[in-house]
Amino acid sequence: MVSTTPAGLKIQPRHMDFDFPNPLPRHWHSGDAFKSHLFDAMSVLFPDGERFFIDSVRNFREQITDPELLAQIRGFIGQEGHHSREHLVYSDRLRDLGYDVTRMENRAKKRIHYTQKKFSAKRQLAATAAMEHITAIMADELLRNDKQMKGAHPMMRQLWRWHALEETEHKAVAFDVYNQVGGNRKILHRAMRIGTFFFIKDTFLGLAHMLKEDGLLWNWRVWRDGLRWMWGKEGAFRPMIKTYKDFFKEDFHPWQHNNIELLYATRLEFDKAQEPAAA
Ligand SMILES: [Fe+2]
Ligand SMILES: [Fe+2]
Repeated sequence: MVSTTPAGLKIQPRHMDFDFPNPLPRHWHSGDAFKSHLFDAMSVLFPDGERFFIDSVRNFREQITDPELLAQIRGFIGQEGHHSREHLVYSDRLRDLGYDVTRMENRAKKRIHYTQKKFSAKRQLAATAAMEHITAIMADELLRNDKQMKGAHPMMRQLWRWHALEETEHKAVAFDVYNQVGGNRKILHRAMRIGTFFFIKDTFLGLAHMLKEDGLLWNWRVWRDGLRWMWGKEGAFRPMIKTYKDFFKEDFHPWQHNNIELLYATRLEFDKAQEPAAA
């Protein structure tokens, strides 16, 4: 079983500069309010979250001597920086539609500020490694099953696939840094439990707010279909129960979920244009 990051894995940011539809179609994901707003609610949390991830890895950069990991840290910081930038434009489009994005952002900002003030740098890094696992397992599902983005606005599909690809590429960076600086599993597991709780809570509050603005908060069909899409027999989140739990195994490493082939396949979609022409 793999318990390390594949040797020679390159992590390079891609400059995308998405041309977001303006206005953003309110239900850009297949005309479905629940699906669209679940993605929206997560997206709003990303810019602040990703800045926190960058900071918490940066705090330990000087302690890392392995040149390969140092290169991956650079790639990780570049990728998360670009994600933040694109998701901020996304947030502005949501604001234009009348959603109280600032309130959602402030909730995340407050929580991050508290974490940075009250917890040690090591615990902050543990939180980052944990949250990166959550993004990694969601990214895997999104890339693996094309149906998850079926019917979505093409540019939005592209944005989420790009983000999922890069989350897959750098999924073990914070984890490897945490290990190299002697982080222990108990703190890591605790960080995961707390992080999961707040991530679900903040995403849910964002989703509920946007559904309320759409006049759909009390529409039982929206919830029935949405929850079925998430947790039903073929549900998008179903396969993640196992991969989520794996994080709590004593010898867990993110690349034990070896999706390198999926990563290579997805790269072809994005990197074709940048490959040097054959001589
Ligand atoms: Fe990201
Ligand atoms: Fe990430």
